[in-house]
Parts: sequence; C-alpha cells; structure tokens
Amino acid sequence: RARVFSGIQPSGEFHIGNYLGAARQWASMVRDQKEELLFCIVDAHAITVPFEPAELKRRILALTRDLIACGLDPDKCTLFVQSDVPEHTELAWYLAAVTPMGDLGRMTQFKEKSENKDFVSCALFTYPVLMSADILLYKATVVPVGDDQVQHVELARETVRRFNHRFGEIFPEPHPRLSTATRIKGVDGNAKMSKSKNNSIATFSPPDEFWGKLRTAFTDPQRLRKSDPGRPEVCNIYTMHKAVSPEATCNEVYANCTQAKWGCMDCKKVLWENFDRELTPLREKRASLDDDAVRAALAKGAEKARATAKETVTEVRTAMGLGSGA
Ligand code: TYM
Repeated sequence: RARVFSGIQPSGEFHIGNYLGAARQWASMVRDQKEELLFCIVDAHAITVPFEPAELKRRILALTRDLIACGLDPDKCTLFVQSDVPEHTELAWYLAAVTPMGDLGRMTQFKEKSENKDFVSCALFTYPVLMSADILLYKATVVPVGDDQVQHVELARETVRRFNHRFGEIFPEPHPRLSTATRIKGVDGNAKMSKSKNNSIATFSPPDEFWGKLRTAFTDPQRLRKSDPGRPEVCNIYTMHKAVSPEATCNEVYANCTQAKWGCMDCKKVLWENFDRELTPLREKRASLDDDAVRAALAKGAEKARATAKETVTEVRTAMGLGSGA
C-alpha cells in the first residue's frame, strides 16, 4: 500500500483554493481507503514569515476542524500537527547537512516570499528542507500538491538521492501527485488565491458573504460588456465551474459565455449555487465539531505519526554516526 503524505499551513483562513486544490482531493483519498494517508497541519512552516502566537494557536484548531468537516475522518487517516511530532524539525536539521544552499536559493517560493521584505528569516530559506523532512520521515512515496509545491517535492527527491548515496538506502523517492483542480486564482484575477494577498474566498464563510466575494471576482479582462463574447479558458470562474459544476453545466456555461448569452453574473450565480450545494453538508459537519473533539483527534493523530517518525529518526542517526549509543 502506497504511503501518502501532504501538508497545509495554518497561516490563513481556509479558502476555496485550499479546498479545491487540496482538501477535496485528500477527502476523496480518505473515502477510497486504497492508500495509507497522513495529513499534517504544518505549524512550523507557518512561523517562517511574521505571525502572531495567539492567532496561530487559534488557526491550528480552526483548520483542523475545517479539514475534518471536508471529510478527513481522523479514524480513516492520520491527521496531526507538525510540531506535536518534534522529529520533523530534528530530521530537517540532518537533511540540511546534505542540501546545497544553491538549490534553496533557486526555489521560486523563496524568491517570491522574500522579495522586498525588510526581514527574511533563515527559516524561510530552509523551508523546503523541513518540507522534505515531513515527507521522508514517513517514507512517503506519493505527495499530493498543487503546482506551486512541485518544485519542493522535486527537491525532496534530490535530497533522497543525495542522502541515500552518502549514508545508505534509507528513503524511497517521493513523487508529486498534482491536484486535478488547476491553480485557483484570487478574486483579483491575477495572483494565486491566498489569504495574505487578500484575494481569497473563505470556504466556510456564510453563503451571503461567499456570494459577496464571488460577485466581485475578476473574470475575462477583455469582456467589458455583456454583449462581448467571453473566453472561458482564461476565466477563473470557469476554472471553478470545472471543479464544482457537473459536466453538462460546464458545457452550458461555455456555450453561453462564448456566445455572449449569459453575463458574468449569470455564470457566477450558477457557480455559487453549485458551491453551496456541495458545501452545505460540510458546514453541518463542521458545526457538529467542538474544540475538544478536534483536540482529541489531533492527540491520537500525533501519537500514530510519532511511532513511525521515531523509527525513521533512529535509523537516520545510526546511519549518520550521530549520538552516544553503540
Ligand atoms: P499551502 O498551505 O500553501 O497549501 C496547501 C495545498 O493547497 C494547494 N493550494 C492551491 N491549489 C490551487 N489553487 C490555489 N489557489 C491554492 N492554494 C494552495 C497547495 O499547492 C498545497 O498543495 N509547503 C506547503 C505545505 C507543506 C507540504 C509539506 C505539502 C509543508 N510540508 C509536505 C506537501 C508535503 C504549503 O505551503 O502549502
């Protein structure tokens, strides 16, 4: 059985980019039960950029609750918080010893996040090493991610080669599994949807608020009037239709947009209804979860994860000649 690992940062609200690009696929893997699944709330990654401790604490629980509501049943997968398993940061240090600085300097996420910043932490630079540790700690071979994270998974694969070559065959090579939803852009239509860019729609915002954001979302910039034919292939709304609407609806949207029969509002209304249909049961599930239930799930998850993590780190220490033991 393949072992699958993926992570998500508790750094912002859980938006529909995270939902369509990650959680939804994870939930379908949980339903299928074909693979061994580990999903991690990566709080240690979230501290690589400025953050508020109280806010971080709150977001960890909130995100876990959102993920369980999406279908990450803690009895059917290992759902846990990264810093509850301290072996993540330990292994990251060991892996840093075989990672060339040049490789980290080439990471596009680092370049983007460090650009024009007064303060750039060392942790932001070594971020991908911690991500490699997340994956390798569990010897995962499949890593579901959006396209923005593929470069990091490829670096993890390089790290495996370097490590195994130097210290013996310990790790299998991980492979990215690209999420089926293409990158969801923000409501500004330019950048990737993300809370920090203030262009996101919170998955579990009340339906009217959800609509408020969707209503103003950018579409095809060349379609200025309803009578202009639209180009669904460049429109973020169409991308979302393809993710949440039935195929027949997508075809209808495509035809009505290209023939200028529907305006963007008509198209968005249909999208909103389809989102709402899908999210209603998840909202109900979410309302049924309290903090205690969420904490209990995370404690169990950490315990399960830690058993494997400890074994791997012991193996690594031995291979590298670390420690006082024989
Ligand atoms: P993060 O927290 O930014 O995002 C979690 C996952 O959601 C995907 N995603 C999107 N997909 C489509 N459209 C969007 N607008 C969008 N926004 C986010 C991301 O591609 C990602 O798969 N470094 C990772 C977290 C991580 C991790 C790992 C992932 C830490 N360790 C180990 C896999 C394996 C990150 O920041 O994801």
